[in-house]
Amino acid sequence: MPKTVFSAMRPTGKLHLGHLLGALRNWVDLQDKAQCIYSIADWHALMSEYEQSRQVRGHMTDMVLDWLACGIDPKKSIIYLQSDVPEHLELQMVLACLTPLGWLERNPTYKEQLREISSRDLQTYAFLGYPVLQAADILLYKADAVPIGEDQVPHLELCREIGRRFNFVYKTELFPDCKAILTPVPRLLGTDNRKMSKSYNNAINLSDTPDAIREKTVRMITDPKRIRKTDPGHPDECNVYSYYKVFAPDIEKDARHWCSNALKGCVDCKKVMGGRLVEHLGFIREKRAELGKDKNFVPDVLREGAKKARAIAVKTMEQVKEAVFVRS
Ligand code: TRP
Repeated sequence: MPKTVFSAMRPTGKLHLGHLLGALRNWVDLQDKAQCIYSIADWHALMSEYEQSRQVRGHMTDMVLDWLACGIDPKKSIIYLQSDVPEHLELQMVLACLTPLGWLERNPTYKEQLREISSRDLQTYAFLGYPVLQAADILLYKADAVPIGEDQVPHLELCREIGRRFNFVYKTELFPDCKAILTPVPRLLGTDNRKMSKSYNNAINLSDTPDAIREKTVRMITDPKRIRKTDPGHPDECNVYSYYKVFAPDIEKDARHWCSNALKGCVDCKKVMGGRLVEHLGFIREKRAELGKDKNFVPDVLREGAKKARAIAVKTMEQVKEAVFVRS
């Protein structure tokens, strides 16, 4: 059992199904098993959004509301804004000194983002160092478990390497090894069959209205080999079918049957799924609307969270400075 759990998300927009299944469900479950610390990574958001930086604050409120609506509970977990705890940047600096450039340049997530995201200039000094700040986030709280989506695994790998290198260089055992906690659910693709991401404009958001959910679902790309309604489809090659596995396991077999035998067209199949998603997200949407009424709620939660997070962070930084400047 982990003792301290840490995770974070960047406030770059509303949360979508990928976040819910890839990480949030785990975040909620872990709250009863360990001390959980959940951070809004606004400095990380700035690394790609530095030209639209004013939007980050609005996204932050949206995101916290989504977290709370999904069941993240400020009475159990520490929820705070990364930039409210300046020690993140201090530790980043120390770790940056001992992180070889090659580790960062080889990082597959970094290379993928440079390739795929053309709407932003990501050829910056800070963006290359993204995983160093992420390592600082985790190590600052000496977290031993990090619930994340699959796409973050390379970053966590780097975090472990950086923590070990610190321990090695300064002959200490200050930083524990941390392990990833992944959800068993396969990665859900976006409506266009690419990774679900706000920047690809292919996401179904947790706060989407029922109409928006139905419309997005009906536009989803299905089995590309099924051209006419009378052609039998290939469920295992269809993204919509993977949604059935997650959101409608009770009729997954039926979906497979009607698709493989061309008994139902893709549009009808997607309409059924749209209805399921509306139902599934209805509860979250209601809770979110309820919480959103009190404008002080989110700021209060974050203020309390920052106090608790900082108490831990300040202690770690004292130990870090001691290891670096005194004992080495
Ligand atoms: N990189 C993560 C993401 O894009 C966000 C993040 C920042 C994070 N710091 C972290 C995740 C520390 C886990 C642990 O989703």
